[in-house]
Amino acid sequence: MKNIAVLMGDGVGVEILEQTIRVLDKVSSIYKLDFKYHYTPIGGNAYEETGTPLPNKTIEIAKASDAVLLGAVGDWKYDILPPELRPEKALLGIRKKLNLFANLRPVKVFDELLHASPLRPEIAQNTDIMIVRELTGDVYFGEPRGIERKTTLDGREIKVGFNNMIYDEDEIRRIAHVAFKSAQKRKKRVCCVDKANVLDVSRLFREITAEVAKEYSDVELSYMYVDNCAMQLVLNPKQFDVILTGNIFGDILSDEASTICGSLGMLPSASLSDGNTPFLYEPIHGSAPDLKGKNVVNPIATILSAAMMLNYSFDNKLAADNITRAIKETLKEGYRTRDIFNKENGDELVTTSKITDVIIDKIR
Ligand code: IPM
Ligand code: MG
Repeated sequence: MKNIAVLMGDGVGVEILEQTIRVLDKVSSIYKLDFKYHYTPIGGNAYEETGTPLPNKTIEIAKASDAVLLGAVGDWKYDILPPELRPEKALLGIRKKLNLFANLRPVKVFDELLHASPLRPEIAQNTDIMIVRELTGDVYFGEPRGIERKTTLDGREIKVGFNNMIYDEDEIRRIAHVAFKSAQKRKKRVCCVDKANVLDVSRLFREITAEVAKEYSDVELSYMYVDNCAMQLVLNPKQFDVILTGNIFGDILSDEASTICGSLGMLPSASLSDGNTPFLYEPIHGSAPDLKGKNVVNPIATILSAAMMLNYSFDNKLAADNITRAIKETLKEGYRTRDIFNKENGDELVTTSKITDVIIDKIR
């Protein structure tokens, strides 16, 4: 039996995970996987229920599981809460508690969706990038941080906000190893993306990455400044194999890169630890509170995240590939949720549950 902690979260997180569980049930029946789901709240709904967005019970259930599936957290109605009670805090909290330092965000465009990309098809086609984003350090977690008061030279009292962009060499080394190992299974190229022309922390990032590279003589290492990378991603995304980067740059670049695939609703992610705690799988998109309960959002990012779970946590590439093939066939037949819908293309606009029905039907 495989124990899966299911943290649906807020907004559309609930419906995309409900649909994903249906897909997993089908896969489970084919491969006799015997999944047991353990539902537990996180984010805004956890706050409503327990007064905290990340209850201890949720952390315990997640830690005791074989893998964690997460939907999305957040709603504008919580914007008035102090930072430590906001849903996003729970997301950062669970990543930290489970030591999920390596976030893999594959950016692979389906040929069937080339027309949905804002890039010209010949530019978007064959894009296949693995963004390896460090997930438990950087300005996201660096201390000191806060908003304080200070007195200016001319005697006025004003507020000052600050965060600390910080990485130590152990943190850099372990994420660099993940990037190089990933590249070894791909096209054997790592591009380290940073801002080393300005930031000291980036200079250290480069230095340590270069050291780690010596252990992977079969992998070619290059460097790129993050501003240039943002541009290169839309100019010529095919040039990239593995992008190794820190937490904040990875956050920004992965949203940008998702549009190459036609929609933010297409990008899955896997967050890996050193192996002593379970891995977590979630779409890279947010909770879209305005779309909640409307049965219109794209479940594919979450379904692909479940496929990554089968691959990375349960070592079942066959099942994972089965899901990916079913998605490809579904797209080939023209079924589209509205984020990837294009009338001129003759697409058929369908709901979240309908596109999942079709995908499930094609898993065999
Ligand atoms: C992501 C999200 C989160 C992040 C937010 C919701 C805290 O944007 O997973 O990319 O910044 O990591
Ligand atoms: Mg993000």
